[in-house]
Amino acid sequence: METFGCQMNVADTDRMELLLFQSGYLRTPHVEDADLVLVNTCSIRDKAEQKVFSLFGGLKPLKQSNPDLILGVAGCLAQQEQTALINRIPFLDFVVGPDAVESIQHIVQRVNQGEGPVIWTEFDSHKNYSIPEQPLIKNPGPSAFVNIIKGCDKFCSFCVVPYTRGREKSREAEEIYAEIRQLVDKGAKEIILLGQNVNAYGKRGLQQPLAFHELLYGVSEIEGVERLRFTTSHPMDFTPELIQAYCDIDILMNHLHLPVQCGNNRILELMRRSHTIEWYMDLIEQLKSKVPDIALSTDIIVGFPGETREEFEETLNLMEQVKFSSSYMFAYSPRPNTPALEMADDIPYEEKQDRLQQIIQLQNRLTKENGQAFIGKEVEVLIESTTSRKGMSFKGRNPHYWSVMFKGGEDRLKPGDVARVRVEETSGHVLRGSWAANRRRSARGEL
Ligand code: SAH
Ligand code: SF4
Ligand code: F3S
Repeated sequence: METFGCQMNVADTDRMELLLFQSGYLRTPHVEDADLVLVNTCSIRDKAEQKVFSLFGGLKPLKQSNPDLILGVAGCLAQQEQTALINRIPFLDFVVGPDAVESIQHIVQRVNQGEGPVIWTEFDSHKNYSIPEQPLIKNPGPSAFVNIIKGCDKFCSFCVVPYTRGREKSREAEEIYAEIRQLVDKGAKEIILLGQNVNAYGKRGLQQPLAFHELLYGVSEIEGVERLRFTTSHPMDFTPELIQAYCDIDILMNHLHLPVQCGNNRILELMRRSHTIEWYMDLIEQLKSKVPDIALSTDIIVGFPGETREEFEETLNLMEQVKFSSSYMFAYSPRPNTPALEMADDIPYEEKQDRLQQIIQLQNRLTKENGQAFIGKEVEVLIESTTSRKGMSFKGRNPHYWSVMFKGGEDRLKPGDVARVRVEETSGHVLRGSWAANRRRSARGEL
């Protein structure tokens, strides 16, 4: 199984792995040993799409030498291309969209019975979104993702997601709580609630209506959840109650990923983001007035059709003003089915790349400045794994969602523990330091 794209795809692949396990399949790291190769795809930008085609180019010889090998494509590119994908990759056995995740056993069974190629790209728009509980086959790590809403109703003019994932559909809270209880029982400490537009949760369709902030309060009461996060939020669905939740829920970590896309109102409107820069800045101000210590990250697109140099410079100004701790930055890529495709993709490649390099350089500086503010301070790190890189022992994340690597505590600490770490240096979006808890705890006589 290979996954491209966002965390939702990663969660979908995990789910398909669990279901296929029940049909007798076991994941192998060696593609040469596989009876089934399943690639969960992304089509958010052209590059994501090209990666999939080159992967299948590499798989062709395997299929030729072993005709029984089943090759399947799932995910957003499959949903977008449907039959066209079979024309392009004729040796495929199935092409299934994101809504087929729960039916993956059935689809593989049909291929095994000699039917082929199977194409399944219907949206189950009338059904509730439900993920039936199953016993987990592997323990989650200390930090676990939980899908709470799928699809997107925002229709930003550049974006394929509303077409590849369909309409917004929230999952019943009881089901979410049950999944979280199961994850916590198996060792998860941090829960990251997921959705393409996560804070639109509960806007419609739930049998038991519940707003997003109410869901957060509910999750925070589950015993064993030590940290709570959510991603990705849309500014338009950010309510005052959600800001209040940051004050009330102490396990809600002080980091927010809030995509802004660009710094100019004309372009924002063409992007159909449905808010202005002033509105975004006001939201940030309100949030900072209640949670002064919050770290902010964002997504930015440069070179949207018609974006002038001056308009692009407003993006630089905005980044400088908010001082994002990190950003995902992209050059605009025209996508099938999207409204922006009607607009001329008129910014030359070199110009887009030049703008991209400028924002990357600016973000590098902002990240460095944000990181330097931690130096000499102690941060709490949820340890995710051990590491032997650069003389360090463990790595994890602090509440602000910085990666933290540290040395010390090898005989005391393990993944899943929260350690106090004194930060000594920073590079990129990583902090490095040493374990500090020994001293502090023994001072209070706890060890
Ligand atoms: N649902 C999230 C993000 C979805 S995709 C949100 O709305 O915030 C992640 C990011 O990919 C987007 O925020 C956007 O910055 C980028 N993106 C989406 N479509 C793109 C395109 N056609 N070209 C370049 N970047 C794109
Ligand atoms: Fe795409 Fe916009 Fe929906 Fe995000 S909110 S997934 S960018 S349409
Ligand atoms: Fe890609 Fe689909 Fe996610 S297009 S970013 S895998 S929702």
